[in-house]
Amino acid sequence: MQKILLSGVKPTGRSHIGNYFGAMKQWLTLQDEHQCFLFIADYHSLNFIQNREEMNQNILDLALDYLAIGLDPEKVTIFKQSDVSEHTELAWIFDTITTMPYLKRAHAFKDAEAKEKEISVGTFNYPMLMASDILLYSPHVVPVGQDQKQHVEITRDTAEKFNHIFGKEVFNMPEPMILGEVAVVPGIDGQKMSKSYGNTIPLFATDEEIKKQVMAIVTDSSSEIPKNVYAIHALIKPKEELDALYEANKGKYKALKDALTEDLIAFITPMRERRKAFENDIEKVKEILKKGGEKAKIVAAKKMEEVREAIGVSL
Ligand code: AMP
Ligand code: TRP
Repeated sequence: MQKILLSGVKPTGRSHIGNYFGAMKQWLTLQDEHQCFLFIADYHSLNFIQNREEMNQNILDLALDYLAIGLDPEKVTIFKQSDVSEHTELAWIFDTITTMPYLKRAHAFKDAEAKEKEISVGTFNYPMLMASDILLYSPHVVPVGQDQKQHVEITRDTAEKFNHIFGKEVFNMPEPMILGEVAVVPGIDGQKMSKSYGNTIPLFATDEEIKKQVMAIVTDSSSEIPKNVYAIHALIKPKEELDALYEANKGKYKALKDALTEDLIAFITPMRERRKAFENDIEKVKEILKKGGEKAKIVAAKKMEEVREAIGVSL
């Protein structure tokens, strides 16, 4: 039997090469051997995006991104979290078996607290919705970037707790899949590349944007090899070629940045073209999401039946 893979991204803005190398690329390479559920975490993004037009656009953009990187909708199930109401339903049940002190240890909550941000109940609860996203589909693997490791651990704890309380193996133990070398893709400032830090190279950037972002990569003049330029370049160039290039151009930051720009453009162009083709057929994209939602719903509803049975609400 095929192993099951599940992952998702929040539609909170343009996808960047950190999303691609940290998570999405793994989906591509695994889509042939796994049964894949890849979703758009729109209810998660409601913690950040509270504007109808923006939400609408972000969802479509992310769906286009999924298709443009080469996911095959005939093979993988692509859907919107909001189309499968079992996600929020199960999140409630998990809320009731989880304590506040436990959730207070989650990174996202601690970060928000450290920044003294007003924290919504949804942000606090985020890991429970994520646990539901995952456990409804009994996946074996969850490919994500390093920043999501704790969330997958919380998911496993929650599965175990539920099974223990209700005395039944309703949920399996999914494994996170985090590739060491791309666990944290750095941004142009050397920090983690993130939509919220303004340090990204968008996955579907125009040539001009790529040039501008590469030129803005922070370099430390004390070193002959510009560390931040090299780190991004390493994502798209084989190590031997890369080392030869940086050896031949020691200290020549401009030449190295030009080479990176050229390689990024070559890497992004085919995906950008595929995206354009889908942009011209948005109805088809909506249809793919709808069909995907229907397929996902069947699996999720079946698991929810088991859950209701286990907790004793089905008579
Ligand atoms: P997000 O955009 O935060 O919803 O992230 C979507 C996926 O991309 C998650 O699996 C993240 O772990 C991954 N990701 C985001 N930023 C990075 C990064 N800088 N390096 C590696 N993976 C990342
Ligand atoms: N929390 C993830 C992120 O911020 C997105 C996400 C939501 C997710 N549910 C998930 C990822 C389930 C993997 C599996 O990137």
